[in-house]
Amino acid sequence: MTKTTQITTLLNLIRDKQAKVGVIGLGYVGLPLAVEFARAGFSVTGFDVDASKVAEINAGRSYIPDVPQAELAEAVQAGRLRATTDMARLADMDVADICVPTPLRKTKDPDLSYVVQALEGVAAALKPGQLVILESTTYPGTTDEVALPMLEAGGLKADRDFFLAFSPERVDPGNPTYLTRNIPKIVGGYGPPSTEAATALYAAIVSTVVPVTSTRVAEMVKLLENTFRAVNIGLVNELALMCDKMNIDVWEVVDAAKTKPFGFMAFYPGPGLGGHCIPIDPFYLSWKAKQTGFDPRFIELAGHINAGMPHYVAEKVAEALNTRRKSVNGSNILIAGVAYKRDCDDVRESPALDVMGLLHDKGATVAYADPHVPEVHSREWSGRLDIKAVELSRGSIGRYDCVVIITDHKAFDYAAIVAEADVVVDTRNAIKKAYPHVFRLGAPRPEHEDQKIAVR
Ligand SMILES: NC(=O)c1ccc[n+]([C@@H]2O[C@H](COP(=O)([O-])OP(=O)(O)OC[C@H]3O[C@@H](n4cnc5c(N)ncnc54)[C@H](O)[C@@H]3O)[C@@H](O)[C@H]2O)c1
Repeated sequence: MTKTTQITTLLNLIRDKQAKVGVIGLGYVGLPLAVEFARAGFSVTGFDVDASKVAEINAGRSYIPDVPQAELAEAVQAGRLRATTDMARLADMDVADICVPTPLRKTKDPDLSYVVQALEGVAAALKPGQLVILESTTYPGTTDEVALPMLEAGGLKADRDFFLAFSPERVDPGNPTYLTRNIPKIVGGYGPPSTEAATALYAAIVSTVVPVTSTRVAEMVKLLENTFRAVNIGLVNELALMCDKMNIDVWEVVDAAKTKPFGFMAFYPGPGLGGHCIPIDPFYLSWKAKQTGFDPRFIELAGHINAGMPHYVAEKVAEALNTRRKSVNGSNILIAGVAYKRDCDDVRESPALDVMGLLHDKGATVAYADPHVPEVHSREWSGRLDIKAVELSRGSIGRYDCVVIITDHKAFDYAAIVAEADVVVDTRNAIKKAYPHVFRLGAPRPEHEDQKIAVR
């Protein structure tokens, strides 16, 4: 078949929703995407190395909070969605969309092993007319330098025999307003035919597709977005540390600053970065920049400040306990929230795990409450113990020497925490008011508040 016929055939299949879509990696990114393709009428096959996830999907059960159970079950029952661990079935697909993890190694170098493994499966099954898309966040050049040679090794040529694009995923777990279908999608193809094919595919499921001129631009867009967040969070965390020294309430400062209708965007301090994106993605960029002899400074500096926040929180806990003539060693400490962000169940890179480890290492007995995370496994934190969540309810809070709010889940009863806890360290400004026993991150110490009240 000629190049023109390959692209025409693929575009027709996409237009008629006859293209068979394979989504590789069925996690926070891949599962919502697979369900969205199925909802739009495509026949979708999910591929994952985790047999338990495959079994859950085939039984019509959702394990991702943002994917409604009913929607997944309906797609499975209608025969539009199925899952498999058998990568050979990629040969039946017209589209292979790769959504596997891109973590960092301990050295903060990119770990592309999941992407490479997925690409090996795709390359082994590659056939003329297929569209391969990489969605995993990665450094600029990955699609051209890693994916392209692997896919072309069998003799097929990109843009002539098959199509190749990068399209970063922007999903925001736990955000009820912005879902896969209404978040604009960036698409950068290897060449114009690849961009056209990937743009047509996504236009079938998302409201706005933004084509860019290359895979490198698309890769860089995602890294700009997440580096922008990491750097701004680093800046506001540094401001919080300054406010702490100056007895100024950083939360009040940010809220007042955000009344400026232009030129300012509010970021909030916190106990540290978490999740599979913001703590990791900027280091993909800095690694690649260093390969070219460029030394990126903002990323490293923000990373340094953000990584120090759990230590600051542990110090605040010691300070709070000190007002009760207690030490961290021997205290019972309750961590409220271990997920990396509000109303989410993801503990990857969560600063709560660091804070727990630091307090445990200093001799505290650490418990945690989190309605979204039933268990923290020994491998996930330096305490090396499996621990189960406890209830954070009236009547139980008073048995702890200190309650540390790390994640401001909506489900927590903050009034009960204020009423019953002996001392509280609040890293999210979940308890908006000043109380004599509440130590807020980046805010005046309670003693200082007392003095102000006394002076008035
Ligand atoms: N979680 C987010 O909020 C988010 C947002 C935007 C972008 N991303 C990016 O999307 C990518 C995926 O992230 P995620 O959060 O969905 O990860 P995840 O861990 O939730 O899911 C990844 C899935 O891939 C599977 N997998 C691993 N290797 C595989 C292989 N060789 N073949 C098939 N399946 C394989 C895993 O079993 C897992 O189910 C990452 O690059 C991440 O940076 C994540």
